[in-house]
Order: sequence, then structure tokens, then C-alpha cells
Amino acid sequence: MSKTARAHTNIALIKYWGKKDAKLRLPLMSSLSMTLDAFYSDTKISDSEEMAFKLNGQTVSGPAADRVFSYLRAMQDRFGVKGELAVESINQVPTAAGLASSSSAFAAMAAAFADHYQLDLDRRELSRMARMGSGSASRSVFGGFSVWQKGDSDETSYAYPLDEKPEMDLRLLAVEINDQQKKISSTKGMEMSKSSPFYQLWLDRNDEELAEMEDAVKRGDFTKLGSLAELNASEMHALTFTARPGFSYFEPNTIKAIKLVQDLRQQGLECYYTIDAGPNVKVLCQRKNSKDIVNSFESSFDRVKIIEAGFGPGVTLLD
Ligand code: DP6
Repeated sequence: MSKTARAHTNIALIKYWGKKDAKLRLPLMSSLSMTLDAFYSDTKISDSEEMAFKLNGQTVSGPAADRVFSYLRAMQDRFGVKGELAVESINQVPTAAGLASSSSAFAAMAAAFADHYQLDLDRRELSRMARMGSGSASRSVFGGFSVWQKGDSDETSYAYPLDEKPEMDLRLLAVEINDQQKKISSTKGMEMSKSSPFYQLWLDRNDEELAEMEDAVKRGDFTKLGSLAELNASEMHALTFTARPGFSYFEPNTIKAIKLVQDLRQQGLECYYTIDAGPNVKVLCQRKNSKDIVNSFESSFDRVKIIEAGFGPGVTLLD
């Protein structure tokens, strides 16, 4: 009997935004993330008459299902195994508009696949396997803080744990600005961003930003971690604005949220923002301030959904 695999989403503090090899999903930069306890995917794989994919109880077809099936076929080739598979996933991640649900989805899928075929892989191999489904999924194999080292081949591009049980006081407030599906996928957006005149600078800064973020994590320095995460996210979004053709994931309320974070900081309520490939804003703060920050968002926006998260665990098989 196959087991259900559970993986949590992660939020990148130093972001992955560019591929060297699209097929293998080798990145042009290393990234660092925090795995979140509030959002996860549960996935189970079993034998079937034909390939089938159910998400939250509904049969999925079209491009989303094709992505899953081609991933499963690629993994079957990789490990020399065969068969038609039924994938059942439950996503406890609110929509695709900002939190990379693909990170938990493909980390859980990789672990479920390994369990189904009894592959007995170590976590590094699982991370490489998850990477092939979605780059950010490589980091969701681990809990706490993890780093995806870019490497330069399939064998050398994987995530490893930096601190799986951090003692640092760090909370993430996921502020839902818009629950619409994003229009430009991360895969496409990162490719388009390569046309920005700042793209080379983005790559050149990666080593230094990663080293500084690792240092902030090791020292539990919230101010450094938050300000650097905010800078890194702003740099990533600057690439979208300056790409040819230019584009943006921001919506008017994204800017409003950014300004609110800046204002709160000036008022002495320390917080920082980070934003992925969508309009939603994630606020990094400390436990002592989270309630006040939530209250400020609730009074500044008409309807706003905020979910608070802390550190989540790595991928596991449920009994
Ligand atoms: C902005 O992992 O979704 O969230 O490898 O093309 O599936 P693909 O991309 P994906 O990109 C995540 C982009 C990001 C930054 C990050 O998580 O590092």
C-alpha cells in the first residue's frame, strides 16, 4: 500500500529566478528559503488503468495534468520503472496567486513516487527529483531554512538543510491581495526577465546576497534577514519591469501593501515584505509584532485575508 507524502511550501528569501537548463531545471543562481508550517500538499500515488490526476478531489486535465504526467514519465525513465499511475493530491495552499504551491506539490509528488516504487532514496536524491518538477520544490524536501545550491549538473543541483529547527523568532504573514490565478507563470516570467538590462547584475549579486543571508540565519539576525529578503525580492521584480517587453506581477493593492510595510517600519513596527510571481505580499515579522501588523492590514484594506505561518518540517510519509 502506497503512503501519502506531505510536503510544506517554502518562501524564498533569496530567490530563484532564472534557468540555465529548462529541461533539467538547473538554476542560474542559488536560493535560500524558509519552509512554512501553514501550507502543505498531501499526495498519494497508486497503480491505475491509465494516468490520472486528482487535485482536491477533482479530476484535472489540460496543461496542469500534462505537466504532472510528463514529470511522472520522466521519473519512470530515470529510475527504470513502469506503469500507469493515479495521483491524488490535496493542496492546503490558498490558490496559485502568490505562494508557490508547486513547491509543496512536486516535493510531495517526488516522495510519493519514491514510496510507490520503494526506491529508498536519500533526501539529496529526493531534492534533485523534486527539482525536476519545479525548481522551488527542491527546497521543500527540508524543514526550517534550506539552501538550493545551483550546481552545474543534475547531480550537483540540489537543496540541503541549513537549519531544520531554527530557534529564530520569525513569522510570515501571507496577505492575500488577489486570489486569481497568475497570468504569467514563474517558468515564463523568469525566462522573460532575462531580457532586462539588469539581469547580469542580478546574477552577479547572488553569491554575496546568499552569503549574507546565510550569515543572518546563523546569527538569528532578523533585521538583516528581513531587509535583505526585501531587497532581493525588489531586485527580482525590477527585472520584470525592465524586461523587454516589460511586465509586472504587481496590482494596485500590491503597491499599497508595500507602502504600508514601509510606513509601519517608520512607526517602529519592524517588518519587511517579500513577493513571488503573483500580486500577493508576504510580510516577515517577529512574533511580538504580528498581531499589530495584522490589525494594520485589516484596517487599511477592505477585504483582506491574512494567514500567519512559522517554520514547517521537511517532507514526510504519513501513516
Ligand atoms: C518567485 O519553482 O515555480 O517563487 O521551476 O519553473 O517550476 P519552475 O519555477 P518555480 O519558481 C519559483 C519562483 C519564485 C522564487 C523561489 O521560490 O525561489
